Amino acid sequence: MFKRAKTISWIAGLFFALSGFLAGGALAGISTTKHNLSSSGTGTIKSTDQPEICIFCHTPHDAIKNANIPLWNHTLSTTASYGVYASPTMTATDTTDVGGVTAATAAVSNLCLSCHDGTVAINNFKNPSNMNPVTTMVGTTVGMLPVGNSNLGTDLTNDHPVNFTYNTTLATADGFLVNPVDATGSGLSNGLKLFSSKVQCASCHDPHTSAQGAFLRASMNGSTLCLSCHSK
Ligand code: HEC
Ligand code: HEC
Ligand code: HEC
Ligand code: HEC
Repeated sequence: MFKRAKTISWIAGLFFALSGFLAGGALAGISTTKHNLSSSGTGTIKSTDQPEICIFCHTPHDAIKNANIPLWNHTLSTTASYGVYASPTMTATDTTDVGGVTAATAAVSNLCLSCHDGTVAINNFKNPSNMNPVTTMVGTTVGMLPVGNSNLGTDLTNDHPVNFTYNTTLATADGFLVNPVDATGSGLSNGLKLFSSKVQCASCHDPHTSAQGAFLRASMNGSTLCLSCHSK
């Protein structure tokens, strides 16, 4: 009797531990975010017939060939110029326009802009799925991101600068930047990310998780995200 009760409570414990683990995994992952554009997505913009989540951005085979980006599948924007943020107090001098790139030269920010500049349809893929060949979208009448906050348009001169080097030299020259501890060129000790030592959209945003809201890598409460890089 005692022995049986013990077994039941052990099984119940295992069940709760497992369900807690699964719930935790699901909450932290992409499936509950607006970037789940598949038919299981819960946002307004989603597919009615495509059950795959990653396909909207990645493909395991025949990806866009480029040494700087991860197995990319979403057709890149052909926008020739986004302009570059400028101000009299900017210290960085190598900020480069992310417009006019080719598949081979696209930077990580071009991946986001392939949907967020509003010029490419969300279901426009380099390599469509062979397993689930159709992708019909709802929530967008023109196929692209509708006009609104999420559609940044093709002018980045009034947005936080991207595509420039952020290293110890810049931090020292500026005087009000945290020295980025970035031994590998890919991750900062504070959880933010640089790409070949450069600030890109995905330095502040992680497209796979929205635990902090707006896919941010750090909280905006008390402006923690900004203070991770700026000593103000
Ligand atoms: C809405 C677009 C989008 C979707 C959907 C998406 N990703 Fe990504 N992924 C990106 C972008 C952009 C990057 C490059 C920026 C970065 O590293 O954060 C990236 C980077 C990656 C990387 C390399 C960097 C790292 O974090 O390890 C892996 C691996 C990855 N994604 C896997 C996946 C998998 C698996 C899925 C599906 C479950 C998925 N992604 C869905 C946009 C997406
Ligand atoms: C395949 C297309 C696609 C790509 C690539 C993509 N996004 Fe999105 N993103 C979307 C869609 C669709 C939405 C939902 C827009 C809406 O509901 O109005 C969205 C929403 C967002 C939002 C708003 C989230 C919110 O809670 O309101 C942010 C922030 C965002 N994306 C950032 C990024 C960044 C940064 C990248 C690159 C690292 C990226 N996205 C890549 C399609 C994409
Ligand atoms: C320096 C950090 C930083 C960089 C770099 C950055 N963002 Fe954001 N982004 C934010 C923050 C913070 C918010 C939330 C703003 C708010 O809630 O008002 C945001 C919001 C957004 C939104 C939601 C719409 C909105 O206006 O609230 C989108 C879409 C987005 N970013 C896309 C991008 C793309 C695409 C890039 C690259 C071209 C990029 N971001 C670069 C910090 C950044
Ligand atoms: C990943 C690191 C990083 C994050 C996070 C970040 N920034 Fe920046 N930001 C920089 C760097 C580096 C520069 C370039 C500074 C320079 O060269 O003068 C910059 C530039 C700026 C500038 C322009 C400075 C000028 O002189 O014109 C402003 C303003 C700014 N950031 C505000 C913010 C705010 C507000 C946030 C939070 C929403 C934020 N940043 C988040 C790294 C970051």
